[in-house]
Amino acid sequence: RAADFIRIVEVGPRDGLQNEKKSIPVETKIELVERLAQTGLQTIEAGSFVSPKWVPQMANSSEILQHILSSPPKSETPITYQWLLPNVRGLDNFLSVWQAQSSSQNAYPTPPSSPSENAADLDSTLPKTELSIFTAATESFTQKNTNCSIAESLTRFEPIMSRAKDLNLPVRAYISVALGCPYEGPNVDPHKVAELAISLLEMGADEISVADTTGMGTAPKTAELLKTLSAAGVEKNDLALHFHDTYGMALVNSVVALEHGVRTFDAAVAGLGGCPFSPGATGNVATEDLVHLVHSLGAKTGVDIERLAEVGEWISGEIGRPNESRAGKATLAQ
Ligand code: HMG
Ligand code: MG
Repeated sequence: RAADFIRIVEVGPRDGLQNEKKSIPVETKIELVERLAQTGLQTIEAGSFVSPKWVPQMANSSEILQHILSSPPKSETPITYQWLLPNVRGLDNFLSVWQAQSSSQNAYPTPPSSPSENAADLDSTLPKTELSIFTAATESFTQKNTNCSIAESLTRFEPIMSRAKDLNLPVRAYISVALGCPYEGPNVDPHKVAELAISLLEMGADEISVADTTGMGTAPKTAELLKTLSAAGVEKNDLALHFHDTYGMALVNSVVALEHGVRTFDAAVAGLGGCPFSPGATGNVATEDLVHLVHSLGAKTGVDIERLAEVGEWISGEIGRPNESRAGKATLAQ
């Protein structure tokens, strides 16, 4: 990864929409992904395979996956699509679509005998697909979000990880509430985050996305967390940061992380988003704002900010929310 290229993981279709109370038509969700695909973004988290009782808004992710695999959104550069799942049930639901689509394209004739002989390698026309799993740095949040302890969440990941490896599907792992917890307060132990990151990497995670779910992170806390992660042996290249912007600190914390050498950041177009189990937390850092920041520092994202700003304005209108991106609104006003 070139040092002057910052990889952005667009989580708008998942994190951005999951907390919306009013059901959003599946056509709108698909159109959001298709529009984002034309902005130069290269990684999009497009949905989640979680319990529809817990997060009703994500209930139609199978349809979105099916659509993306059978009619890949047009894009100038290849796009990797990520899908969030909490347990084997979520993986089974994901695979029932993904494997059917792989075999219908004759890309998955027999079960792979080795990780290199798999659907992803055999069929270059199927969009690249990755899985995301998630746990958290506090027991209270893990219970509220996934109804289990931190240790149980890791146990749930073992079969997901081994099946993902067999299918050669990369796995990213989120660690929520790394800089503050809605139930345990702002001072989350960075050593706990580091310990979890190491466990997840040892289990085979390809990337760790460290999440400031509540937006309680500050520049000094971010710096301390990053130092603790480094000291524990977590490489910068294995790390992504996922800032929610509840207190308006997301860009400041992003600069701290950039200076520290982090090169992957999650963001949601128009600053959409929030976690249903983190009361009061608002959206992710707006992708337009992050892109503007990165470009202002002379680094590249591959993203066309004007096209992205249009997508932000469009989806805000569709779901009846104010556009939370300052750079997006300013770009459109020019
Ligand atoms: P549970 O109720 O303990 O699960 O929930 P269970 O195993 O007892 O199952 C209960 C029912 O759900 C059963 O159905 C299961 O089949 C079904 P029933 O027999 O009652 O009809 N079920 C499922 N259905 C569909 N897909 C599944 C699934 N699993 C079970 N995967 C569970 C445990 C983990 C399922 C639940 O707590 C859950 O779905 N949690 C997800 C919560 C969530 O999506 N949170 C938001 C995403 S994380 C986030 O936003 C943070 C992040 O952005 C980073 C950050 O900012 O911090 C990533
Ligand atoms: Mg989030």
